[in-house]
Amino acid sequence: MITHIVGNRPQFIKLAPLYHELEKAGYEQNIIHSGQHYDENMSDVFFEELGIPAPEVNLLAGGGSHAQMTAKTMVGLEQELLDRKPELVILYGDTNTTLAGAVTAAKLCIPIAHVEAGPRVHDKENPEECNRIVTDHLSDILFCPDAVSMENLQREGLGHLAHITGDIMYDTYLSIAKKASGGQDASDEEIVVMTWHRQENTADRERMESILRLVERLECKVVCPLHPRTRKCLEAYGLLERAEAIANFEIIEPVGYVEMVTLMNRAKMILTDSGGVSKESSYAGAKCLFMLELDVWEDLVRDGWIHKFNPQDEESVAEALRFAAVAERVRPEERPRYYGDGHAAEKMIKALEEGGLIGK
Ligand code: UD1
Ligand code: UDP
Repeated sequence: MITHIVGNRPQFIKLAPLYHELEKAGYEQNIIHSGQHYDENMSDVFFEELGIPAPEVNLLAGGGSHAQMTAKTMVGLEQELLDRKPELVILYGDTNTTLAGAVTAAKLCIPIAHVEAGPRVHDKENPEECNRIVTDHLSDILFCPDAVSMENLQREGLGHLAHITGDIMYDTYLSIAKKASGGQDASDEEIVVMTWHRQENTADRERMESILRLVERLECKVVCPLHPRTRKCLEAYGLLERAEAIANFEIIEPVGYVEMVTLMNRAKMILTDSGGVSKESSYAGAKCLFMLELDVWEDLVRDGWIHKFNPQDEESVAEALRFAAVAERVRPEERPRYYGDGHAAEKMIKALEEGGLIGK
């Protein structure tokens, strides 16, 4: 039995292709949901759209502080893993659910595969960095989305466990892009698609205000499926009405993946602080303004595809606005291609089989 441990939006998106490929290959598997994300449009919608079966169990560990959520997940997981005794657990990305899965499984001596291993922002104040480092170092096999991630793992002495498989989100993107209405329709108004949820950009009122000021200065409609965390923070700081009053700012509820791909595929630019969305921008053909100065997807940054900026620094904002002013859709043949060929899931299964971690 293979157990997938997931809990939030990007993890459901990463799980889908691997689950389907393992199913095709005849493996027995189940899903444990930590409950970190729990709204219908942050969780259920992805299971429905991506054809993933309902989790066997939901640990209802969402909300609370980092420690509370991580601890609650660990306590719930320990019993579930003791009951199920899987031959392998598969963990995804860099969230508190990933961290809880890594620590719990490692201490029960259950082998761990980590999907999306190796990205580093080189800043331990970033909560996801802590989760990634611990998970990579506790895992038995590591699947890297790109060569930069492999180099990071090699520097940490983990290269012998690592495989470059490409980005599994590209597998999902390709399968859904077929269903989403693709490309820019001549009748469509130009849009910037925005997502905004990282702790660094929501924990401070002034930071949030500076992001709203930037949105105001973009000479284009900005469509923003607003993460519940960001909505709650805007409300708490008394900024929600101000945000809703911005003429070019269209705040919508979080959307399912089909609608998200449809939006990205018609965007002239993407404004985000999401690790996943900033990388997907290269699949969708819209360059990306990244609202943090962390080390993300270094190849895309070097190519000028992702432009990082500090919303609280006027000079940095001015540069960001210059980037936005010339951003336009990029034809498929001109998009950068650093993240594999859309067959990451197959490569992962091959590596798991060859490594003796799964076998029929
Ligand atoms: C988490 C991950 C982050 C990832 C993001 C994907 C960590 C440390 N952070 O951040 O790495 O990029 O998921 O979206 O694990 N909330 C709801 N409904 C929901 C989910 C969340 O209302 O369905 C609200 C709750 O008030 C919750 C807050 O959002 O306390 C933050 O949620 P949480 O899962 O802690 O962090 P994310 O910002 O979603
Ligand atoms: N996404 C989505 N609906 C939304 C916002 C994002 O389907 O309303 C998708 C997005 O395309 C990407 C994933 O969710 O595939 C990224 O999740 P998020 O930004 O929450 O997390 P991160 O990548 O920062 O960990």
